[in-house]
Formats: sequence, C-alpha cells, structure tokens
Amino acid sequence: MLWAGTMKGDERDTLGAEFKNAVGELMELLGMPNISDFFPGLAWFDLQGIQKRVKVLAGQFDRIFEAVLSQRLGNEKEGGQTTVEEIKQSLEKEKDFLEFLLELKDGEDGKTPLTLIEIKALLMDMVLNGTETSSNTIEFIMAEMLNKPHTLQKAQQELDKVVGKDNVAEESHIMKLPYLHAVMKESLRLHPPAPVLVPHCPSEDTLISGFRIQKDSMVYINVWAIHRDPTIWENPDEFDPERFMNSNVDYSGNHFNYLPFGSGRRICAGIAMAERLSDPALYE
Ligand code: HEM
Repeated sequence: MLWAGTMKGDERDTLGAEFKNAVGELMELLGMPNISDFFPGLAWFDLQGIQKRVKVLAGQFDRIFEAVLSQRLGNEKEGGQTTVEEIKQSLEKEKDFLEFLLELKDGEDGKTPLTLIEIKALLMDMVLNGTETSSNTIEFIMAEMLNKPHTLQKAQQELDKVVGKDNVAEESHIMKLPYLHAVMKESLRLHPPAPVLVPHCPSEDTLISGFRIQKDSMVYINVWAIHRDPTIWENPDEFDPERFMNSNVDYSGNHFNYLPFGSGRRICAGIAMAERLSDPALYE
C-alpha cells in the first residue's frame, strides 16, 4: 500500500524483510519503559541505550525510504519528464500512498507542496502507527474468539449470511457485518494496542475537573484501566461482543469511556483504514 508500485521482485522482497525487522525492533523500543522519560535529568546518560538503538534504526529507515524515493524519482527522470501527469498515467491502476504524496510534492495547484523530508516523515508515521496496531488487533480478535467458540460461531453465521460460503469477503461487506464489528470493538476494549495512548504534552497550564495539569508535563491516559473499569462496564474482564450490539459507542473519541483510538485533535488518523484492516473477515 505504501510503495508497492516502486520495487519489483527480489529487490522488493529484500527491502521488505529488512523493513519488517526494523519496524518490529522500533515498536519494541517504543513500548519499552525509558528511565530518561521519568527522570529527564538522566536522559543525557541514556542508561538503557534506547536512544542509541533508535538512532541506528532511524538511519536504517532513512536508507530504506531513500532507496524507495530515488527509485521512484529515478524512474520519472528516465522518461525525461517529471510531471505529475506522467506519474498519474503510469500508475492509474495501482496508486500507492507514495504516489499520492509525490502528487502533493509536485502539487499542480502548488498549494500544499511537500518536501522529501516531509514525505519520509509521513511514511514513517504511517508505518509506526498503522502496522502492529492492526496486526495485534487481529491476533487478539482471533484469540478471544477461539476462547469463546460461541462468538466464533455467531461471526461465522453472519459471514455465511452476508458474504456466502463460497465467496470471498470484500471491503464492501464490512458495513453489513454488525456482529463482527462488535467483536472488533470488544477486542479493542480489552486489548487496546496503545494502552496508555501516546504521551501528550499540554502547551499551557490547564485545569481539568479541578486538577491542574502543568504546562510541558507528560500526560498518559490509561485507556486500558478505563476500558476495564467495573463502575463503567459490566463484567469488565469478560469478552462479550453483545455489549456493543445496538450501542451508540463508536471510535470518535467522544465517548470518554471508550477510547481505543484516542480523542481530540491527535486522535488516530487511520481509523477508517484500521476498521478495514482489522476485520478478520478479510483474512479468511
Ligand atoms: C487497530 C488499529 C489502530 C489503533 C488501535 C490505533 C490507535 C491509535 C492511537 C491510540 C493513537 C494516539 C491517539 C492519541 O494519543 O490521542 C493513534 C495515532 C495515530 N494513528 Fe492510529 N491506530 C490504529 C491504526 C492506524 C492506522 C491503520 C493508521 C494509518 C494508516 C494510523 C495512523 C495514525 C496516525 C498518523 C496517528 C498520529 C495522529 C496524530 O498524532 O495527529 N493508525 N492511533
């Protein structure tokens, strides 16, 4: 999805493998409690060596993005022209994310030009936020359903009815599968891939419900605890998709008892895609 149109064959496989390892390692480092975050005075010492390892990985990512970009831009130059029109024509059928970004870079209207550094940053954002979150969600959905066979059975019955036994589930089916959607919501309640969201940092002193949150402090929202709060959820530790059937609780971040994608201005930018990627029906 990100740049499939660029690399072919072996090159794509090698780069893909290197990329996958780097993503895995970076995710591990991001999830690691870092003493430097809690005692900023010690950050300089980088006691656990996390910063050092991240720097090495950052270089590795940069090389991968460079390779993809120079390949794509090189291809453009070979044709003698670097016009947006040319890119559009060559990839009319198979547009990947990079293609859209390059269109913005060379924006016809010049309103939103992007630099190559910004393009790399956007690719990085998509990779970090959009890969393990979705794959972890799928794994938890599968595991929960295997432990509760009646939920699996119900999901299968819904699939048989809406998709049909011999058909392949398509993206267009997703909205017609309310039970499966409830399964996904319930799994994200019990296993939010970002259990304390990402740290937020207020730009000014703020008063919330009588509590003063100091400017520049690091704020974690313990979504995991909210999602299992017995004063909010009945049998909170129980996997029960039914609780989301006929419920108006959604991913908008407006229901403060349910925030798997966060809330407000920094809410997840990929909810629509996550809904599609995390639907087990598409992985049958
Ligand atoms: C089940 C899948 C996913 C979950 C649970 C999830 C969850 C989250 C959470 C909790 C945040 C932080 C929100 C906050 O701190 O308030 C976030 C941010 C973000 N997510 Fe997702 N995400 C998922 C999939 C995706 C996908 C597929 C993409 C893109 C393709 C994506 C792109 C982003 C981006 C770009 C941000 C940063 C937004 C910002 O800071 O303005 N996410 N996500």
